[in-house]
Amino acid sequence: MAKPVVFITGGGRRIGAAISSMLMDSGYFVLIHVRNSIDEAQAIISAYSEANNGEISGDIIRADLVNDDISELVATVANHPKVIEYGGLFGLINNASVYQPISFEELTFEEFKKNFTIHVEVPFLLTKGLYEQLKTKSGSIIGLVDTSQGRAWQDLTHYTSSKNALRQMMINLAGDLHPHVRVNCIAPGAIISADWEIEHFASVLEKVPMGRSGEPKDIASAAKFLLESEHISGQIINVDGGWTLVE
Ligand SMILES: NC(=O)c1ccc[n+]([C@@H]2O[C@H](COP(=O)([O-])OP(=O)(O)OC[C@H]3O[C@@H](n4cnc5c(N)ncnc54)[C@H](OP(=O)(O)O)[C@@H]3O)[C@@H](O)[C@H]2O)c1
Repeated sequence: MAKPVVFITGGGRRIGAAISSMLMDSGYFVLIHVRNSIDEAQAIISAYSEANNGEISGDIIRADLVNDDISELVATVANHPKVIEYGGLFGLINNASVYQPISFEELTFEEFKKNFTIHVEVPFLLTKGLYEQLKTKSGSIIGLVDTSQGRAWQDLTHYTSSKNALRQMMINLAGDLHPHVRVNCIAPGAIISADWEIEHFASVLEKVPMGRSGEPKDIASAAKFLLESEHISGQIINVDGGWTLVE
């Protein structure tokens, strides 16, 4: 029997890799989008294959979400042999992201727009382009957002404004796409530090009620839960060790 197919953007490393890997282990065929992390994505597919008698449960789709034609990416997903075999798409996970501080003085409009392209425009275009494939399988969409809503994160205007636009777009789409397609978000707290924020990350962890960072598998578990929860739509799950309770 054909496996349910899930497409994840930026699914080759860090949190995306944990989601790709857990979904394969849970019986899904995962289309892993990458820009640079081809080897990492191949390692996920190979690890699953080695543990499961050579079975292949994933494929890699490469695209630069800023410079490439997203309609070509949509066509590649929609026409993928596993999507055809399964008769549609069970999940779309908007995970790809950029996260780099830039002071307001140095922030260019080009950089500002790049954040909106990756975090808002691409998820919109993927939703538009893959809606019919999701609809036929009563599938769902998940957006990876964050806990910055209503807060000022220093030198991250471009990032927080675009991530919160994604959050709101997902919630509005949940209203517009029901009952055919469910739409939800996961808001990770401090999970994996970026290279530039190691000190700040440590100071955040001192405040987090759970007293530690989350793990990528915590986000993967939430993604699997949302994909499989047939009566949940329009929700944002904070996976943050209680951080939002104290901030
Ligand atoms: N890490 C955390 O603690 C944390 C906290 C809050 C929210 N989140 C959210 O959770 C999600 C995963 O977090 P993460 O830290 O694992 O993400 P990440 O490492 O910052 O980015 C994920 C992937 O996005 C892809 N990407 C970036 N620019 C791209 C472009 N122009 N075209 C195509 N792909 C591009 C990269 O793919 P390649 O590697 O293939 O180039 C990258 O591996 C993100 O949406 C993030 O905002 C994470």
